[in-house]
Amino acid sequence: MPQTFKPAANTIATVSLFAGAAVPFIAFLTGSTMTNSPYNTKQFVPIDQPAPFSHKHHAYELGIDCRFCHATVEEGAVAGVPATEVCMTCHSQIWTNSPNLEAVRKSWETGTSLQWNKVNHVPDFVYFNHSIHVNRGISCNNCHGAVNKMELTWKGQSFKMSWCLQCHEDPSKYLFETEAVKSGTISPREQVFDLYRKLSSGKKLTEVEYQLAEGLPQVVPSDDVHAGVAAMKERGINVTQLKDCYVCHH
Ligand code: HEC
Ligand code: HEC
Ligand code: HEC
Ligand code: HEC
Ligand code: HEC
Repeated sequence: MPQTFKPAANTIATVSLFAGAAVPFIAFLTGSTMTNSPYNTKQFVPIDQPAPFSHKHHAYELGIDCRFCHATVEEGAVAGVPATEVCMTCHSQIWTNSPNLEAVRKSWETGTSLQWNKVNHVPDFVYFNHSIHVNRGISCNNCHGAVNKMELTWKGQSFKMSWCLQCHEDPSKYLFETEAVKSGTISPREQVFDLYRKLSSGKKLTEVEYQLAEGLPQVVPSDDVHAGVAAMKERGINVTQLKDCYVCHH
């Protein structure tokens, strides 16, 4: 008998889908110039900055935790970029004469913040939230490329709608758990940062971690995909609504 109701249910779904679509479509018309602006198109191109800040150097070689500089990434929607004070905790003492730090010193002396050029961006009519992704254990590198290898930061993914949706359709293929998570030693959220700790201390990586660290497409081995499905259930992830328009356009 459920069959009888299927076409009707589909019609309702289609109607609500188009009703939901109206808002983003209007936004699209006004937002289309934004869509073609440089930060949306320049994937893989290193972006010039007022000071040549290197993630490879600070996050990988020196092993500074992402959260030291992007303090709100696990609690809030926005990751944020660090204030000059954060740089000066070290650079008031080391490398104080480097011409590469001229802009940083000037910002500190004049009290005007550094104007970092934006690398990643989604249009204003798209809602994005860091904390939910990070708390689910999705790696920064999955969305930003191999940040640990970047001298100047570049954009690792297109951020097209189809790219968001291919994961929202079935996030389990990107959810993996290291032994430390499986044994309950660390949380899925902490696994995100553990990758960089392992890298900096030269610890052995799992296959998926290696792919992430190298910036290769993430292919979770079939055994781990099943682990991923179980992980989704355990983490209470409900995917049936994850592709609905209102999730990202509201
Ligand atoms: C010592 C401070 C510091 C640490 C540690 C750090 N970052 Fe950054 N990050 C910055 C600064 C400064 C910028 C802005 C300049 C730039 O884009 O390179 C930035 C920019 C970024 C951007 C691009 C922002 C945009 O405009 O879209 C991403 C993505 C990023 N960081 C990810 C990470 C990840 C992942 C880690 C940990 C592996 C990390 N960062 C660790 C200071 C830091
Ligand atoms: C925990 C300490 C620490 C923090 C915090 C830190 N740095 Fe550094 N930074 C270093 C060290 C150590 C070096 C490099 C020395 C070397 O090359 O061996 C360095 C090097 C640099 C260089 C290259 C200097 C040169 O002449 O090659 C730049 C540019 C730089 N940092 C910018 C920043 C900015 C911008 C921030 C804040 C977002 C920041 N750093 C935060 C420790 C730090
Ligand atoms: C699911 C994908 C995804 C993950 C995982 C992710 N980011 Fe992002 N990140 C984005 C998107 C999309 C933007 C652009 C947001 C915008 O324009 O509003 C962004 C922007 C940023 C920015 C620029 C400032 C801001 O908040 O807009 C920084 C810095 C950043 N991310 C750091 C990180 C760090 C550090 C991690 C891991 C702890 C991380 N991101 C994990 C997708 C992601
Ligand atoms: C690698 C997988 C992946 C990618 C890529 C991804 N997401 Fe997600 N997203 C998730 C998962 C998993 C959840 C959490 C679902 C849950 O816990 O119920 C989520 C949840 C969300 C939510 C719900 C947040 C809330 O507060 O309810 C929004 C909004 C969202 N994502 C937007 C985006 C946007 C926009 C993009 C592309 C720029 C994107 N996501 C890319 C996996 C992903
Ligand atoms: C997981 C997040 C997510 C969901 C769910 C989502 N969108 Fe989007 N949408 C985006 C992102 C990100 C962009 C911006 C793409 C860009 O800048 O190229 C976008 C852009 C758009 C645009 C502008 C045109 C374009 O393709 O760039 C329209 C129209 C749109 N979405 C409609 C919809 C409709 C209708 C639905 C439901 C069927 C939907 N979206 C569901 C993330 C999402």
